[in-house]
Amino acid sequence: MKTQYTTLLVLAVGANPVFAEDISHGKKLQQENCMSCHDDGMYTRENRKVTTPDGLQKQVRRCEQTLGLQWFDEDIDAVSDYLNDTFYKFK
Ligand code: HEC
Repeated sequence: MKTQYTTLLVLAVGANPVFAEDISHGKKLQQENCMSCHDDGMYTRENRKVTTPDGLQKQVRRCEQTLGLQWFDEDIDAVSDYLNDTFYKFK
């Protein structure tokens, strides 16, 4: 089922399939694991702390470790990419 879904998604998005898959994976992980302490508002608050892509990666790792999720580096990357693409918009 997962493969089928991924194939559909890649077909639907087309232009940059690898990136699109990464973003949707990150979005799912974030929604399932990260909303217990803060919602999306944390990423767009006025005095947000994260100001660089590197800082974003580090903060995702920090929160993930607090939860003891033991994510792979790929998961950290996917969530960082999702948050950047959706909220932070770093280049
Ligand atoms: C145990 C509670 C908790 C959970 C669960 C949690 N966070 Fe956080 N998160 C915090 C707190 C508290 C802060 C604010 C830290 C600060 O102000 O220094 C924060 C801040 C952040 C920020 C920085 C926001 C800014 O100011 O720019 C990001 C990004 C972030 N969290 C991502 C995540 C992700 C991704 C997950 C899921 C893996 C997650 N958080 C789960 C407590 C949590």
